Amino acid sequence: MGAVIAPSILSADFARLGSDIKDAEAGGAGLIHVDVMDGHFVPNITIGPAVTRAVRRVTQLPVDCHLMIEEPDRYVDEFAKAGADMISVHVEVARHLDRTVAAIKEAGAKAGVVLNPATPLEALSEILPFADFVLLMSVNPGFGGQTLIPAVLDKARRLRAWIDRLGLATRIEIDGGVTLENLDAVAATGVDMIVAGSAIFGTDDARGATQAMVRKLAAIAEQGRRA
Ligand code: DX5
Ligand code: ZN
Repeated sequence: MGAVIAPSILSADFARLGSDIKDAEAGGAGLIHVDVMDGHFVPNITIGPAVTRAVRRVTQLPVDCHLMIEEPDRYVDEFAKAGADMISVHVEVARHLDRTVAAIKEAGAKAGVVLNPATPLEALSEILPFADFVLLMSVNPGFGGQTLIPAVLDKARRLRAWIDRLGLATRIEIDGGVTLENLDAVAATGVDMIVAGSAIFGTDDARGATQAMVRKLAAIAEQGRRA
């Protein structure tokens, strides 16, 4: 199974969010990535539960809420109630990560833990068996349209090997700076979910841009089967 594309609505046109999401869905998106920022953990302020609820209403795809907020425990239930199927929290702010991961699962969502580019994989060592997925930031969080930090590709490869060695089903998501041009290199690390914001919604054809990425991933997966 190849990786899926997770369009980040951060770069969408919020005045026509529904149709932007439908375009990405028609292009073959695997899930919808929602970037939640609080102006504290990251400088930017973006989306909250109200918009998440609106996203939930317009798509059948899993809704993936990436919480870039301090005190994430306070908001887990609210995002789950708003319709998030996946909720991820940063290890840099979740002081009681085991409790937070348990709370996400309790609320009925898949639990993800997120690492900033400079946060070592070792930060996962105790929580890895309990996380449904790990999100590796390939840019410093806060804004769309940044350039992928190449060192994170090796980190993704090492995480893949670690998860496989332990025989875990933990999925890997990567987020930030992914383009059609670097998609091969990103997919080659063995990640399962690839977030793309500006590469999809920064174009005037979100459907075509999603489709191009999905097709490229399918071709890569096909090559892998033949090899
Ligand atoms: C960054 C966000 C990303 C971002 C990705 O803080 O977590 O999801 O929107 O956008 P691009 O693909 O433009 O880097
Ligand atoms: Zn994100």
